[in-house]
Amino acid sequence: MDTGKAFDITVIGCGGFIGSHLLDRLLSGGELRLCGIDLSSDKIAHHLDNDRFTFIRCDIHDREVVHRAIARSTTVVLLAALCNPSQYNTRTLDVIDVNCSGTIPLVRACAESGVRLVYFSTCEVYGRTTASLVGGDYSGRYLLREDESPFILGPVSALRWSYACAKQLIERVIDAFGREQGLEYTVVRPFNFIGSRMDFLPGIDGEGVPRVLACFLGALRDGTPLMLVDGGRNRRCFTAIGDAIDACVRILDRPDACRNRIFNIGNPANEITIADLAWLMADTWHRLVPQDSRPIALREVAGAEFYGQGYEDSDRRVPDIGKAQRYLGWQPSIGLDDAIEQAMAAAIDHYGPGPVQAKG
Ligand SMILES: NC(=O)c1ccc[n+]([C@@H]2O[C@H](COP(=O)([O-])OP(=O)(O)OC[C@H]3O[C@@H](n4cnc5c(N)ncnc54)[C@H](O)[C@@H]3O)[C@@H](O)[C@H]2O)c1
Repeated sequence: MDTGKAFDITVIGCGGFIGSHLLDRLLSGGELRLCGIDLSSDKIAHHLDNDRFTFIRCDIHDREVVHRAIARSTTVVLLAALCNPSQYNTRTLDVIDVNCSGTIPLVRACAESGVRLVYFSTCEVYGRTTASLVGGDYSGRYLLREDESPFILGPVSALRWSYACAKQLIERVIDAFGREQGLEYTVVRPFNFIGSRMDFLPGIDGEGVPRVLACFLGALRDGTPLMLVDGGRNRRCFTAIGDAIDACVRILDRPDACRNRIFNIGNPANEITIADLAWLMADTWHRLVPQDSRPIALREVAGAEFYGQGYEDSDRRVPDIGKAQRYLGWQPSIGLDDAIEQAMAAAIDHYGPGPVQAKG
């Protein structure tokens, strides 16, 4: 169908982990014409020569350029964010800006141009579970539901919640544009997607503290202890990027079913404590790098020591995916062991196994 628009989809933040996988899928066949906006193209270099893809290297704050691209699109997928936990309490103003205040003009531009918006929020909006407030009895009180669960964050002094709070507010802004100005939107709340091209390894292709998988992988390569923040007792549901992208494509393909709805996208069957994740990754490392004979150690560290003052964390995040099953016909199928192995194998392929000591 000719929409008269130059682009079927513009992906803002296309150069990141999720964006690069979304481009892989959307450009792998079919006829979609895509535009991508990001500060970086390192992870999408393999698409830059594609005739169906136009890359614009710019900041989301460059309103003239970004708004022109939005107006020329049928749908905008908005992924640009600062979304690394180590930034929430160290670059709080930037985190609030990129995830909320700097994003509001983009949302308004979508509303004014009649462009559909698919916005990537986060499962962090839920904060802590209600169970964590009443003594840790999780029975029946941990499943997170898009339209029912409360958002439970810490005080302002717990800077870590700046990201979750910014994402909460932008969700409310998007919903208000939907109600008052007719914006057609879908909000995605990802639950810990993992796979190739996620994150960075400090000193190799980034600086600072990456997310937990990259932290553990870096330690396994370097032969240093895997650091368990606050004992590694918190739990997460890790979701393979392949399953996640399936859900995204279904959302893009079903504008009517997804109109002004919010979806948890995560794999509730893949829940694990961070301490058990460390052991799982250690076992997987030995399988993938059998020549490495160094012993693997785990060490506990306080959150404030590891991430700095103002750090707090969600205890548990298990998505209810009933809505995604119902409206998208989506069911994640990649189990935790496979998802971890795929992500680690891709990272080892990309970075090499590091300075391993040969056996014998
Ligand atoms: N990966 C996950 O498991 C996960 C979990 C929860 C939420 N999310 C959300 O999904 C979205 C994408 O996540 P991701 O893992 O791909 O993150 P990512 O950090 O890999 O990608 C974000 C991209 O945004 C770009 N960007 C940041 N600031 C920008 C700016 N000012 N102008 C232009 N581009 C800018 C970055 O260069 C980067 O390429 C984010 O909104 C994030 O909050 C992801």
